[in-house]
Amino acid sequence: MTENRQIVVASLPQGALQATDYELRSGAVPTPGEGEVLVRTLALTIGAGQRAGLQGSASYAGAPTTGIVMGGTGVGRVEASNAAGLPVGALVVGPTGWQDYSALRARDVRPVEEDVDPALHLSLLGTNGLTAYFGLFSVGDPKPGETVLVSAASGSVGHLVGQFAKVHGCTVVGVTGSDAKCAVLTGRLGFDAAVNHRSPTFRNDLKAATAGGVDVYFDNTGGDILGAALRRMNVHGRIVCCGVVSQYDTDDPQPGPRGIPGLLVNNRVRMEGFLVFDHADRYDEARARMRAWHDAGMVESIHDEVVGLEQAPAAFVDLLAGGNIGTRIVRIAD
Ligand SMILES: NC(=O)c1ccc[n+]([C@@H]2O[C@H](COP(=O)([O-])OP(=O)(O)OC[C@H]3O[C@@H](n4cnc5c(N)ncnc54)[C@H](OP(=O)(O)O)[C@@H]3O)[C@@H](O)[C@H]2O)c1
Repeated sequence: MTENRQIVVASLPQGALQATDYELRSGAVPTPGEGEVLVRTLALTIGAGQRAGLQGSASYAGAPTTGIVMGGTGVGRVEASNAAGLPVGALVVGPTGWQDYSALRARDVRPVEEDVDPALHLSLLGTNGLTAYFGLFSVGDPKPGETVLVSAASGSVGHLVGQFAKVHGCTVVGVTGSDAKCAVLTGRLGFDAAVNHRSPTFRNDLKAATAGGVDVYFDNTGGDILGAALRRMNVHGRIVCCGVVSQYDTDDPQPGPRGIPGLLVNNRVRMEGFLVFDHADRYDEARARMRAWHDAGMVESIHDEVVGLEQAPAAFVDLLAGGNIGTRIVRIAD
């Protein structure tokens, strides 16, 4: 076996994340212990939520620290096995981190099907697809004919939320960060309307695009977009609090918007946070439905790809600045 290239957290970001907060190191290829497998990483996914982990605002991620391999989910091939049921050659998804090789406990990896691009197991069939599915259907509870608004709508979770809501018979409006991204949402993904949050006319544009009000707002961003969406909610509307991407890449996150709780009271709006892990007992059911939609051509999982482990830090910085459409994937090996 060869070297194990690793991307290590060299410093915790001061202000916005920099690629120089990471270092590329060469480590030893680990030896799997009893009940473990050695996994060669084929591809990784990077999502905005990982910045919350570095900020210390994601309770499930623990306290951020330096000198460790950057965490993350990857899809890979088992190259050595001390675990029953996980033979050499199996394709698995697990917490590989940003490195070529990882020794993972059998209970932490999941064997996946070979009949699709392995990256699909990191996007539609991975955590972000499940997040879109359960956030929309279990928390948002949209009815056919209702209007669903989603922010970070061209990101990994957002572009799937909008498509799932269309499959469900809803009217869908997306908020994203450029006119070109708006065109992808309406032209390629079937959204009914899209609004650019960087436009000086954003609030008026949102009002025009949601003339009948909003029944479900899927909030990936918090911040000013949440503030604007609060004022578009219909009576008995639901706000799904999925994430706060507008406040991750900073040392100085802003307080929540004005109007809470008054607007919630007046319009009897339910605002509810969730973590995808809450729904782990229904992952198989959700994956089966999402896979069926995908295979029928009803839902497209867009992959925004870069090639090479060493590109991961710059790809993360770029993503936080809005550089991605769909799920960011880093290809590492064939
Ligand atoms: N609750 C859960 O269990 C759970 C699980 C997974 C993910 N999440 C959350 O889901 C959200 C979306 O994650 P993701 O992986 O889908 O995102 P992503 O693919 O990483 O995309 C992030 C997008 O956020 C937008 N953005 C960045 N800064 C922004 C700002 N200041 N204001 C508005 N938009 C901004 C950018 O697009 P624009 O060009 O549109 O600005 C960027 O492309 C995150 O908040 C994440 O933490 C929650």
